[in-house]
Amino acid sequence: MRLGVNIDHVATVRNARGSAYPDPVRAAKLAEKAGADGITAHLREDRRHIMDEDIDRLIAELEVPLNFEMAATEEMQTIALRHKPHAVCIVPEKREEKTTEGGLDVAGDDNRLARFVAPLVEVGSRVSMFIDADARQVEASKRIGAAVVELHTGAYCDLHYEGRFQDRDAELKRLTEMAAYAHSLGLEVHAGHGLTYDTVTPIAALPEVMELNIGHFLMGEAMFVGLEASIAEMRRLMTAARTVDA
Ligand code: PXP
Repeated sequence: MRLGVNIDHVATVRNARGSAYPDPVRAAKLAEKAGADGITAHLREDRRHIMDEDIDRLIAELEVPLNFEMAATEEMQTIALRHKPHAVCIVPEKREEKTTEGGLDVAGDDNRLARFVAPLVEVGSRVSMFIDADARQVEASKRIGAAVVELHTGAYCDLHYEGRFQDRDAELKRLTEMAAYAHSLGLEVHAGHGLTYDTVTPIAALPEVMELNIGHFLMGEAMFVGLEASIAEMRRLMTAARTVDA
């Protein structure tokens, strides 16, 4: 199972002051050294964290694959086609949201998304749709030509921290079923959003999930223990979850 480290929030701290530091590319390289299998960065329309030059530098300087997260807009498609990143993850984006709330409505926008995704696939990027654990969204992702679905774990994590354990377990059941269903359709399955040391184990234990993308918690934890240590502990938990499952 791969660990993709999302470095957006190093840029959030940098941009809070409009300074040149901390540098998200430095964090990406450190994450690479600490064993990250890939780096994820989300270039938002409002450039609130990652900026265009960060993407240029990540493409030029990284050794591990870049997972370029973006909204399905013409501007972002042009940027992705210029860089041809290893992976592109299409996410819904609202200007006023704090973070990506909920998955993309692929089923409700399938004709447009099919046309949007085709040129990205053509230049060799693995296209992933960030969706809720919902059979209609899984089926639509397959239909429009995506190779990957990333299941949104945000609701599961929120319910855990709200202490709503029955609802959390119901969401985990949906994630479990949809991971298996997506895999049965030939889609590669990833998962992410909101994952922490407390919540990662049941998700990492899902046998069809090939990659987790984790950022905010790892960066916060890095303030206390350093990035290499926070990544190492997350990796340890992921490996342990897989071992128990086997
Ligand atoms: N996966 C996707 C598609 C995301 O949008 C995000 C957040 O940018 C993540 C994973 C990582 O979420 P978090 O920063 O909460 O770990």
